[in-house]
Amino acid sequence: MTIPLAREGFEVVGLDFSEHVLALARAKLNRESAEVRNRVTLVPGDMRDFELGRTFAAVFVPNASVFHLPEESDLSQCLACLYRHARPGGLAVVDVVSPHRMANQEVGRLAPVREGLNPATGLPTRELNRKLRIERDVQTVRVEHIYLEGEGASQRTYRFEQDYRWVEQEEGVRLLEDTGFAAIEAFGDYDRQPFTEEASRLILVGRRPQERTP
Ligand SMILES: C[S@@+](CC[C@H](N)C(=O)[O-])C[C@H]1O[C@@H](n2cnc3c(N)ncnc32)[C@H](O)[C@@H]1O
Repeated sequence: MTIPLAREGFEVVGLDFSEHVLALARAKLNRESAEVRNRVTLVPGDMRDFELGRTFAAVFVPNASVFHLPEESDLSQCLACLYRHARPGGLAVVDVVSPHRMANQEVGRLAPVREGLNPATGLPTRELNRKLRIERDVQTVRVEHIYLEGEGASQRTYRFEQDYRWVEQEEGVRLLEDTGFAAIEAFGDYDRQPFTEEASRLILVGRRPQERTP
């Protein structure tokens, strides 16, 4: 969402702890106009522990990226960082896949995800995945990611497994409150529909309170 926001005229700082992901983002950014490029700064950092030395009107963790955090305490640390970087009156937004969807996925079925070019080789690649295990007590799904590059005899297969820890609505709201955020809302999609069990997303929004004058 960094580049679409910059295209809309916003100044954006994008943070990721993978140098590889930042390099992909830089390559995408290089295809934008100088005006858009100049609005974006990409920085390496851990979402649980970063200090940019400034505050923002809004701080987002998009695309279910908090699912990479293994424990509730990691999510708390991340929210504390968001709080420090939101200006008084500013917003924090945590966008994840709905917990109901995460907890009720079919285990073992190979599912197509997308097709595209492997940015490292330029070869056509299909991405599939398979849920290996769902552990509801620790809100975790183990996923096998499979990439099929090229066709026929020269086809190469890449696989890796990753755990994703989902966020329950009550947990997210409680942690935002504990961090100091107020006016917390839970939406079920990007059109601001309220969150329900049928929703595809859980989009949590909190506001850092205005500083009180003595
Ligand atoms: C679902 S991808 C989203 C990628 C990109 N931000 C986007 O929206 O297209 C999750 C990203 O989170 C990053 N990530 C995982 N753990 C992180 C952490 N502790 N701190 C910062 N980034 C992290 C990964 O490197 C990965 O790029």
